[in-house]
Amino acid sequence: MNDLIGFFDSGVGGISVLHEARRIMPNENYLFYGDNKHTPYGPRPLEEIRALSAAAIGILLERGVKAIVIACNTATSAYAEIVRAEHPELPIIGMEPALKPAHFARHGGKVIVLATETTLRLEKFNRLMARYGDDAIPVVGEGLVELVEGGKAQTPEAAAQVRELLKPYAGEQIDAVVLGCTHYPYLRNHVQAVFPEAKLFDGRDGTAQRLRSQLEVYGLRSDDTPGTVEYQTSGEPGAIVLMQKLMDWLDEERKIEP
Ligand code: DGL
Repeated sequence: MNDLIGFFDSGVGGISVLHEARRIMPNENYLFYGDNKHTPYGPRPLEEIRALSAAAIGILLERGVKAIVIACNTATSAYAEIVRAEHPELPIIGMEPALKPAHFARHGGKVIVLATETTLRLEKFNRLMARYGDDAIPVVGEGLVELVEGGKAQTPEAAAQVRELLKPYAGEQIDAVVLGCTHYPYLRNHVQAVFPEAKLFDGRDGTAQRLRSQLEVYGLRSDDTPGTVEYQTSGEPGAIVLMQKLMDWLDEERKIEP
């Protein structure tokens, strides 16, 4: 084991989570692995998502990481329980759509949960819906991951696709929108434009905080100065350039959206 924290996503989405982890733990060393060659995971069969997740996590394990963040709601739903059972010695942090806080933010209206079709279909989300889902509307974020992966998050095309997906609910009182996929925080301004009154929720902060507390519980916090970030992809080198660009974009976004 070494001092690296391994992050994994189907592509560049998990960068939104890594960004938050770096913000609260700048002295840690991070390895981010994006399976860009196989993104999106959402529309794939469960067994395929499991096999891809196993391969990606295997790459992190080979590097001897001290903890793993599955920075992907889809892979968490499909695979987190399995990999945790296989590696009880490691802190493995997963994600789920932030429906709980969104549920408590309602004031008479509804909550839209935007996520991949796999996340919305599997048991983990159904359990969450059973507890906090009265007045929640699950919506598959059709085409959104592809736009983000294509470097098009901040384009009129992406804004139009978000509008199209949310159009059926425009007449309703929507108090909150859950961005239940780690690719969606790059689209939050488009979502906010459709529902200016809604509060937006995503799992970035909660996941980074959970990582910090788990590292503390396991006695694995590092005080190296300064921390480093290494990016890896199964895809084209351009994916790494996009990861770095998104990190920069998030720096700017954080200045506006504390
Ligand atoms: N970023 C992933 C998530 O949080 C999944 C995107 C995909 O590959 O479909 O669900």
